[in-house]
Amino acid sequence: MIRDLLGRAAVRLGRAGVASPDFDAAELLAHVLGTTRPALALRDEVTPEQVRAYDALVARRAAREPLQHLTGSAPFRYVELAVGPGVFVPRPETELLAGWAVDAARAVAARGRAPVVVDLCTGSGAIALSLAGEVPEAEVHAVELDEEAHRWAVRNLAGSGVDLRHGDMAEAFPDLDGCVDVVVCNPPYIPLDAYESVAPEARDHDPAAALFSGTDGLEALRVLERVAARLLGPSGVVGAEHADVQGESAPAVFVAAGRWCDVRDHPDLAGRPRFLTARLAR
Ligand SMILES: C[S@@+](CC[C@H](N)C(=O)[O-])C[C@H]1O[C@@H](n2cnc3c(N)ncnc32)[C@H](O)[C@@H]1O
Repeated sequence: MIRDLLGRAAVRLGRAGVASPDFDAAELLAHVLGTTRPALALRDEVTPEQVRAYDALVARRAAREPLQHLTGSAPFRYVELAVGPGVFVPRPETELLAGWAVDAARAVAARGRAPVVVDLCTGSGAIALSLAGEVPEAEVHAVELDEEAHRWAVRNLAGSGVDLRHGDMAEAFPDLDGCVDVVVCNPPYIPLDAYESVAPEARDHDPAAALFSGTDGLEALRVLERVAARLLGPSGVVGAEHADVQGESAPAVFVAAGRWCDVRDHPDLAGRPRFLTARLAR
């Protein structure tokens, strides 16, 4: 019964162009049955009501609603984020950037000081929440401009100790100028005219403010470069995600500013350029 249900759903999702039909079919069934994907193998009974609920979710996924909107949750490193309409769904590739920020904060802690870390463009709060959980000594600050996304971050960061603020990163944290050890940011970075090439899950369900950034996709990164230079203390470090086609143009923004050293780009697990890091040269 379960195997048939899963098989039919996976075929339907595959025909609709979903990138990982077997995985999504199993995740949705696990969600309906209140279990986990690996534990599905231990179940053999499904009620007619559960089948109806499952069919309805599979239909929505076939219409390219994001899987995470249907389950209401997105895994990110060691945490789960509540997500839905109005907030960017955290992506697995951003876990690498968050891991770099965790390592950078731990390196400061190893020198006997509580690291001060800022997550600009926090969205759901994924990076900030990971930092707070994985580096308990860190003082973590986060900012989000969009009102609806900020509400999701409030929910996800409740009780985490993260100092979450609502506003534009351009003017954020004047009280921390020159005092920050690590700035991390996953900004919007898709060029405006690339709209048609974006997958329906993102184009129709992630907020536009989370995706698009000027004609070359680098507008927010230019703002980030200036904000990071203002916030960081001597030898402070910044890390920022970018599109895979920006492996040269994104680091070039930092090189051209003339105030950074150790400007490096880092690949993701598929070997594609994914995020840059730099150290303030003062
Ligand atoms: C690509 S999403 C990243 C969200 C989250 N950090 C993550 O990695 O899942 C970019 C986020 O930046 C926010 N944003 C865009 N411009 C901003 C600005 N000027 N100041 C603060 N947040 C901004 C968007 O609303 C969106 O939530």
